[in-house]
Amino acid sequence: MAQLRRDLGLWGAASIVVGTVIGSGIFLVPKTMIQQVGDPWMLFAVWIFGGILSLAGALTYAELAAMLPEAGGEYNYLSEAYGPFWGFLYGWTQMWVAKSGSIATLATGFYLYLANFRPELGVTAFVIPLPLGENFAPLEVRTGQLFAIALILALAVLNWFGVKVGGGVQIGVTILKVGLIGGIIGVGIFGSSGPNAGGAFVGATGGTAGFFAALVAALWAYDGWNNVSMVSSEVKNPQRNLPLALIYGTFAVVAIYLATNFAYFHVLNANEVGHSDRVAATMMHRVLGNWGANAVSIAAMVSIFAALNGSILTGSRVPYALARDGYFFRRFAAVNEAHRTPGFSILALSGWSCVLLLSGRYDQLLNLVIFPSWILYGMATAAVIVLRRKRPDLHRPYRTLGYPVVPVLFVLVAVLLLYFTLRNSPRESILGLVLIAAGFPFYRHWKRQLAKGH
Ligand code: ARG
Repeated sequence: MAQLRRDLGLWGAASIVVGTVIGSGIFLVPKTMIQQVGDPWMLFAVWIFGGILSLAGALTYAELAAMLPEAGGEYNYLSEAYGPFWGFLYGWTQMWVAKSGSIATLATGFYLYLANFRPELGVTAFVIPLPLGENFAPLEVRTGQLFAIALILALAVLNWFGVKVGGGVQIGVTILKVGLIGGIIGVGIFGSSGPNAGGAFVGATGGTAGFFAALVAALWAYDGWNNVSMVSSEVKNPQRNLPLALIYGTFAVVAIYLATNFAYFHVLNANEVGHSDRVAATMMHRVLGNWGANAVSIAAMVSIFAALNGSILTGSRVPYALARDGYFFRRFAAVNEAHRTPGFSILALSGWSCVLLLSGRYDQLLNLVIFPSWILYGMATAAVIVLRRKRPDLHRPYRTLGYPVVPVLFVLVAVLLLYFTLRNSPRESILGLVLIAAGFPFYRHWKRQLAKGH
């Protein structure tokens, strides 16, 4: 069988971390965050805390990735540590909540920036009544959501045909993102007359609940630090380069996010940020007028589009892999003869993402993603401790920095985060838990099938 080549050096791998993490969040979540914490300084504290948390997660993942470098990432860590059921639950959760929810969130973010040019996208198109009693408001569907659905389906078709965005385009998009952010920072800090700091958002949630709700939004912007394990089989000298790439990459993202927020709050005050659907465009509009807002909106759309395409491309491979192992609907394992893509898996994941997209707005959808994702991150991090006991024989080229304090703290904070998210956003969290729990009977069914030798 053909082997993947180890072509990626340290900088290549670190740029993949930066390139996969920066997507939509930095251009959108400051609104939600300031509404939750109120005070801009607190908002910076949340960004730093979220960055440290992501770094702790990445450092722990580095041990797993270097120890099991050829494997399918988290799916393998969980199966190895806790048994095949947990590997299954990982794939199941990715399919029905985490990956599909990411796709829905990103497409929603895309239309929010497109509405800079077409404000009518924000208008309600029609209302779907829900037969769930009066506690559930009817679903108001905006024109922009219909556009977002069309975008997901168009990308699904492209992926079905196996239209790969070449490496050159990927690099181009990453350079554009970093350049865009450099531009925002430059314009915000040097282009405007003075700090607009001071003042807090009026009517913020505040307190511990507000802190954790803002943290969820920040963690969405940082999400993707776990993905480097996917390229671990293509990294040169992974024992050294993988952990370093994670550390450098995560540090770079934290620095970029802090500087960007500094620029936002240099130009806008807390109430302006808290009422802006497109904080980057609002800020650029203030300093440079229309053309600034237009330029930044186009660049943000390119960044989000690239993240969306990447999520469909990689996300569809998860249910495909499960199905190939016999732990998912068999159709998902189908490979399209002509195009060599997991066609059914691509279309089903994208279709389901469209359903989720209708269920909420940007900040609700990101709750739907972060809640189950952090169950999985917490479990994968705990797997480091489990595997040190269960498989002491495995060769560990990299050992987690600060073991066992770093993974233990990470798991504790993850538990707190889940607790507060359940309280702050019960609707999204419970929807996530129900979708995860639905996997249990299916697992028993497929396990029985496998035992029968199908
Ligand atoms: N951090 C990205 C953003 O700011 C979201 C990444 C979503 N991708 C993923 N694989 N979960 O939009």
